[in-house]
Amino acid sequence: MKDKKQMSDNQTLKEIAETLNSENDLQVMLHEVLKKLLSLTGLHTGWIFLIDKQGKYELIADYKMPEALCVRDKQPMCEGGCWCLDRYNDGRLKRATNIIECKRIEDAIELNWGDTEGITHHATVPLRAGKEAFGLLNVASPHKVHFSDDELVLLEGVAYQIGTAIKRVTLAKKENELMLLAERNRLARDLHDSVNQLLFSLVLTARGTKEMTNEPEIKDMLSYMQQLSQDALKEMKALIWQLRPQGLENGISTALIDYAKMLGLEVHMDVNGVLNLSSHLEEALWRIAQESLNNCSKHADVKDVFITFNITNDFVVMTIQDRGHGFFYEPHKELPSLGLLSMKERAELVKGTCHIESALGKGTKVTITIPIEEGTR
Ligand SMILES: Nc1ncnc2c1ncn2[C@@H]1O[C@H](COP(=O)(O)OP(=O)(O)O)[C@@H](O)[C@H]1O
Ligand SMILES: [Mg+2]
Repeated sequence: MKDKKQMSDNQTLKEIAETLNSENDLQVMLHEVLKKLLSLTGLHTGWIFLIDKQGKYELIADYKMPEALCVRDKQPMCEGGCWCLDRYNDGRLKRATNIIECKRIEDAIELNWGDTEGITHHATVPLRAGKEAFGLLNVASPHKVHFSDDELVLLEGVAYQIGTAIKRVTLAKKENELMLLAERNRLARDLHDSVNQLLFSLVLTARGTKEMTNEPEIKDMLSYMQQLSQDALKEMKALIWQLRPQGLENGISTALIDYAKMLGLEVHMDVNGVLNLSSHLEEALWRIAQESLNNCSKHADVKDVFITFNITNDFVVMTIQDRGHGFFYEPHKELPSLGLLSMKERAELVKGTCHIESALGKGTKVTITIPIEEGTR
């Protein structure tokens, strides 16, 4: 008898695994697996909550829920708290399976939402893969307040399979996003190459046409056109550099020197300590320095830029300084525009600060200080 039971449980797990493997869309997958689970176990109804790290939940799948929980487009399932979510969120769902009176059903009875179809309790199983938790699977049957050990063991097995499948699907989605990003970058680079060619022809044509006329006004207009297309070429170059941290593979200091050269600036670099930063710190510094160098090239009207890095165990400090025009900057006022603001925001994203000093006629110094935390180096 026991053997027969064991066989049918194995069969259930096998069929659940097949269902999970045949689908890549999370919502469809969870709906199908829930349906399958209920039909294989003879349980009547079930629903799945996905729960994010902040404890926000979403009803992602449900099957044959009682009328009382489906009212107003399943609103009772999409708002308010309940005991199973509370316990999940404060870590009290230690056991793999738990039988819980359903608070939503109690509310439904009290507030007269409709027929509860004899449901009062449900089994609640956290969906996990390794240490990660993704949400809850709840299953119930009319007038069922007890689940046998065998039933619970089976539910645990199924929940583990579902957790692993959720992990697989989310990883695949992330990978897809990365591939899309790479594709977008590739397209942008191709477009950049062809637009660059056109702009370059425009520069040459304007220059050539200038030689064909003696009219000073037309000459001026053509010079202006030539200058505009040259500026556009420069902007296109800057744009392509910003697409992705290209060039960072040789380290941030080399990348900055190259970027500055492209902008027509000469960098004087001074590094104290070992520049061995985590890629996300490096990318933050890279983006901030890019904007700062753009500003030197656009506003300072000097060629030389001084960049320093000081790295200690706890902090990395980067300064970017020019001795150009400078500008009137009031530290306690709101930042004037997007470029400076984005530098500050990027620094804050990695728990750092952005300090700007500038004086008219004396130049500008940007200081970025970022803590190096355990594990981010
Ligand atoms: N290195 C600099 N030298 C001179 N002026 C600067 C420098 N950096 C920023 N500024 C001034 O601060 C303003 C705001 O900079 P930013 O927010 O980057 O905007 P944008 O570069 O688009 O004008 C600039 O318009 C400029 O007047
Ligand atoms: Mg700017």
